Amino acid sequence: MSKGHVLVTGGAGFIGSHLVDILLARGFDVTVLDCLLPQVHGEAECDGEGWPVYLNPAARRIRGNILDDGIFESALSGVTHLAHLAASVGVGQSMANIVDYTRNNTMAAAVMLEVLSRTPHKVERMAVASSMSIYGEGEYRVPGSDRRLAPPLRDHAQLLDHDWELHAGDVDLEPVPTTEDKILQPASIYAVNKRDHEDMFLSVGRALRIPTVALRLFNAYGSRQALSNPYTGVAAIFISRLLNDQPPLVFEDGRQRRDFVHVLDVAEAFAGVLESDKQVWEACNVGSGRAISVNEIAQTLARLLRKNIAPKVLNQYRVGDIRHCFADIGKLERLFGIRPKRDFDLGMGELIDWVSTARRPLDRSAASMAELANNRLVI
Ligand SMILES: NC(=O)c1ccc[n+]([C@@H]2O[C@H](COP(=O)([O-])OP(=O)(O)OC[C@H]3O[C@@H](n4cnc5c(N)ncnc54)[C@H](O)[C@@H]3O)[C@@H](O)[C@H]2O)c1
Repeated sequence: MSKGHVLVTGGAGFIGSHLVDILLARGFDVTVLDCLLPQVHGEAECDGEGWPVYLNPAARRIRGNILDDGIFESALSGVTHLAHLAASVGVGQSMANIVDYTRNNTMAAAVMLEVLSRTPHKVERMAVASSMSIYGEGEYRVPGSDRRLAPPLRDHAQLLDHDWELHAGDVDLEPVPTTEDKILQPASIYAVNKRDHEDMFLSVGRALRIPTVALRLFNAYGSRQALSNPYTGVAAIFISRLLNDQPPLVFEDGRQRRDFVHVLDVAEAFAGVLESDKQVWEACNVGSGRAISVNEIAQTLARLLRKNIAPKVLNQYRVGDIRHCFADIGKLERLFGIRPKRDFDLGMGELIDWVSTARRPLDRSAASMAELANNRLVI
């Protein structure tokens, strides 16, 4: 007997398609609603109708945009659980495409929530994809002290000086794992959109008594990530550069630290939250809990690809970027018993294997750098 029927928006994308596989394997019926954005799917291997070949054939498919009249409402037929992952996902790109991003991320959430609040349906649980980007800077402490700090974003004068770290007086602050309690300081339109859409889902979910969890995803990596999309997925972008015998381009000094989490750990977090019967309206981090610098990522990938190519450190700031942010992953475990399981080196190895069998990606880094420069988005 089916465990329920999940509608996965953005289910043809990188994370969504893995979630579809896991949900089907765990006994759910699944419908995918996806408009197949050309920037994401343009160069992926597709079937005759434009769907990526990796998409599980057991899922029902609806090709359409959430913003299209009536599409979401009709997709809800028979649906008991909603996983909302559809979005425009480029941080840098969002700064020059503000209307498009706000329409596709925030307005799309408004359309969905209005349908849920006005029309009869059977949705009894929701999980939505939020992002670590809504934190802005991660959490810090003064070395040797236990007091946590949420410093403001670095100011323009500091960045013009190429002074990358955060300071308290003369002391460099030390980054620590970021908890969900940290104040939100989104530094890009994408992040503002994600913060708003998270709040919108939590508040309407609470009002309609539909348990809702916003998963604040850190940097996901793994197979099916769009290799030709220059705006997302630093690991995929670096691989695409290295395969084209070009050095990965690293902003600032490359020592900024992030949290890279395997896509299957992310997809399992969504599935686990949807399977739970906890009556909660909460935001939870989904990360690996391990901090790694952008330089280390570039070096690991070059080693695994057997390319003797060092990253090119640009010593430039990209508007919207933060210095350090990695996850405290305790809340997801406390609430739902969910922990990431995949090892980083093995996961990156799998990513390389997948890239080696995927079509050779076009390297669009030069074009995206030019676009950022034209829009005055690098300092
Ligand atoms: N990948 C990451 O590291 C990461 C990190 C933080 C948050 N997230 C969030 O996770 C979610 C999934 O990200 P992803 O990396 O799988 O992205 P993706 O671009 O691979 O997938 C998004 C999918 O949504 C579809 N889509 C976009 N707008 C749509 C619309 N209006 N109607 C219907 N379909 C639409 C696209 O065609 C695409 O298939 C997004 O909400 C993103 O903001 C991802």
